[in-house]
Amino acid sequence: MTPDGAPGLAAIAEAARLLAQGQLVAFPTETVYGLGADAENPAAVARIYAAKGRPQDHPVIVHLAPDADLAYWASEIPAEARQLAAAFWPGPLTMILKRALHIPDAVSGGQDTVGLRCPSHPVAIALLQAFKGGKGGVAAPSANKFGNVSPTTAAHVRDEFGADGTLALVLDGGQSQVGIESTIVDLSRLDSHGPVLLRPGHISAEAIAAVIDRLPAAPDAAAPRASGTLASHYAPHTPVAMQPTAVLAATLAQMAAAGRKVALIHYSDLPGAHATLRLPASPEGFAHALYAALRAMDGSAADLILVEAPPQGGPWRGVNDRLRRAAHGSVGIVHGLLNKHAG
Ligand code: TXA
Ligand code: MG
Repeated sequence: MTPDGAPGLAAIAEAARLLAQGQLVAFPTETVYGLGADAENPAAVARIYAAKGRPQDHPVIVHLAPDADLAYWASEIPAEARQLAAAFWPGPLTMILKRALHIPDAVSGGQDTVGLRCPSHPVAIALLQAFKGGKGGVAAPSANKFGNVSPTTAAHVRDEFGADGTLALVLDGGQSQVGIESTIVDLSRLDSHGPVLLRPGHISAEAIAAVIDRLPAAPDAAAPRASGTLASHYAPHTPVAMQPTAVLAATLAQMAAAGRKVALIHYSDLPGAHATLRLPASPEGFAHALYAALRAMDGSAADLILVEAPPQGGPWRGVNDRLRRAAHGSVGIVHGLLNKHAG
């Protein structure tokens, strides 16, 4: 530990050594915490899938040091990939490229592509530079059980995996700055489909277009599969519903009258509920706090987590995407809770 509580050189070196041995290490990134393994060790990558309870055909992102050799990991590197790396790396952008032949199937989920990202969190960079002298890749999904909310603190990671001994080490780098997962852009089919936005995030489609002069399209039917793009994902155990600001006060009153406990996550002026968390009204501030808020509300013994729907589009696209997935399957839940009186 350093005086400010961040992991010091000894902890980073230990983490790099454990990764090289094939063990799992959780580490902070600016988006969410990652569950890392040596990307070139199929047995280690298999441990990620086992720990998460994740289906085998879902690819994982390979995290690289800032001066990594892209040509070692990808077989085709379009000019657009170089431009985006120059503009946004280190940072919250993942690029899907045609994979180099030596990338294990376990990393690519059996597809002919690989997801590459250079994170900007200083602890992640230090770890990637220490691991195999900066020449390695760390395969890392978000450090949560499959389908759960991604962790944005080391404590969240321990809540997910603490007791089961699957993690050799958790590096604590404080609360993740961005708070939602990286933007994913597919550049592996540029000739036929152009750039495709597989997952919205802090780096917007417009910001990407400003660099490569082409606006990434929405995923088509043949787009690479991405588990974070399943309809239901990032979900707490308590049902989640989103409602527009205009109807929220009425819903809160009805829920109270029906004896229901509501955990409210909002950003404008609203009355309190059983549990209430007010998040910043900016897209950056809201994203930064969202996952910790969902986890806290999941632990508040509420019947329902009610979220004030953020504005649509623009810089709010990432949080809207995550909230829609968290709320998937809870459609109709508000009516159900109002109709059956609390027992
Ligand atoms: O911000 C992030 O991206 C975080 C941090 C830890 O870097 N990682 C993360 O990983 O969100 P994960 O596994 O939870 O989500 C990665 C997404 C998945 O939806 C996966 O299917 C997709 O990236 N993905 C990875 N490699 C891919 C590939 N070759 N083709 C298509 N999708 C890919
Ligand atoms: Mg994930």
